[in-house]
Amino acid sequence: MSEQRDRFTEHGQGQVFQFYDDLTPEQKDLLDRQAAEIDLTEVTRLFENLVQTTSGDSGNESLADQLSPAPFTPLPKNNGDPALWQTARETGEAALRAGRVAAFTVAGGQGTRLGFDGPKGTFPVTPVTGKSLFQVFAEKILAASRVFGKPIPWFIMTSVINHGDTVSFFEQHEFFGLEAERVHFFSQGLMPAIDDQGKILLAGKGEIALSPDGHGGSLRALVRSESISKMNAVGIDTISYFQVDNPLVRCIDPEFIGFHLLNDSELSSKALPKRDAAEKVGVFCEKDGQAVVIEYSDMPERLTNERDPNGDLRFRGGSIAIHIFSRELVRRLGTNTDPALALPFHRARKKVAHIGDDGNLVEPADPNANKFEMFVFDALPFAENPVIIETAREDDFSPVKNAEGSDSLQTSADDQLRQFARCVNAAGVDLDTDETGLPGIQFEISPLFADTEERFVTAWESQEETPEITDGTVIE
Ligand code: UD1
Repeated sequence: MSEQRDRFTEHGQGQVFQFYDDLTPEQKDLLDRQAAEIDLTEVTRLFENLVQTTSGDSGNESLADQLSPAPFTPLPKNNGDPALWQTARETGEAALRAGRVAAFTVAGGQGTRLGFDGPKGTFPVTPVTGKSLFQVFAEKILAASRVFGKPIPWFIMTSVINHGDTVSFFEQHEFFGLEAERVHFFSQGLMPAIDDQGKILLAGKGEIALSPDGHGGSLRALVRSESISKMNAVGIDTISYFQVDNPLVRCIDPEFIGFHLLNDSELSSKALPKRDAAEKVGVFCEKDGQAVVIEYSDMPERLTNERDPNGDLRFRGGSIAIHIFSRELVRRLGTNTDPALALPFHRARKKVAHIGDDGNLVEPADPNANKFEMFVFDALPFAENPVIIETAREDDFSPVKNAEGSDSLQTSADDQLRQFARCVNAAGVDLDTDETGLPGIQFEISPLFADTEERFVTAWESQEETPEITDGTVIE
């Protein structure tokens, strides 16, 4: 007899156990375990607040009147104060030398949009050797650990869909040179899909239709997996957060860390002036006097296209999902059970295949279900002293999201090549490029040789003999 069964029946979710008596003991055990993880009060609340009350799209005009652009600290090249950036850099470097920083990647997603059937982090992205996203990050983290003389632990959030494959990938590649015990994997939480009547759907007779709870679920997963306690135990109070899809990201950026610490901030974010109005990135706004990110799909169109007197986009601060979290903010938000003090959920309408009351599989042609996800940037209004600084696209952001077109493998590989070309030319090589800075040859620089342009110049100059750079050269 299932202990969960009564609890579900009391909450009007008895249908989850309607085939229970036909299940094998193993199937019963699985269903019981899945059921035990579900917070039924939360499910009811989400149904009432996000499904029942949303009668179609009423438009977001009222939101438009509440938003203004959030300011950000400009880069020195855009009239920022160079002395301030220098102080930030020194502060960040000191924190790294003191071992206060961990890297954190959200990698719960698959490469589905790329037509790739595996954990997205295992997707090959570099132009010559085809290093995976995970390898690029691992080498950047290892490079920074060497520069600052302190190992930087790396926390990686997976999901049930890809946890095993992700861990095996690291094992097969011997953790890309990192110490295995400093790479920590944990799986994110799951949320049940519900129909429009609020009923939890079954993916099989003994299996609830569950899906990952969004990257915002990382905060509670960091707590639940004891990652926060591990950080506390070794004196880490600063968490460098980035997504799995962006090979250009500066995984460890001393200036960014420094701004965060100098401002005693609980959450710092990088803003990138949007390429154009249509670019699909969240936007930094202010609402009720607080910094928020409005996801591109929720941004009122009128504001997306609005220009200031200089002809620039008025809402141009794009959020590229690079943040620094204080350990304390993660602990607070990840532990809180009061919905008013935790990250909100967003609803997505999806097609979810499920078992009908007759026991047969229903494969819907149209969206039939509601899934719930948290977004990590919704932590912003909860943070003390939020900081937003500008970053440079060419050195921080060129994600691989689509099979073709913008933000694809091709555009990202080209941006990596432009970065490599800037490095070698800064060291006096005189490599030919087109007017966009793209070299005519494919070559590659390993982060283990140098992970910034400045360090590349130093490393290149210290070589007794430097290689000629031709098609296929790998500098490592
Ligand atoms: C995301 C941001 C967008 C930002 C853009 C920058 C959202 C909703 N939007 O868009 O504001 O401008 O990136 O590139 O996030 N992930 C998990 N678990 C989940 C869901 C996602 O780990 O349950 C991870 C993915 O592995 C990936 C990242 O979160 O690393 C982003 O997810 P994705 O859904 O691809 O977001 P985008 O639509 O690209």
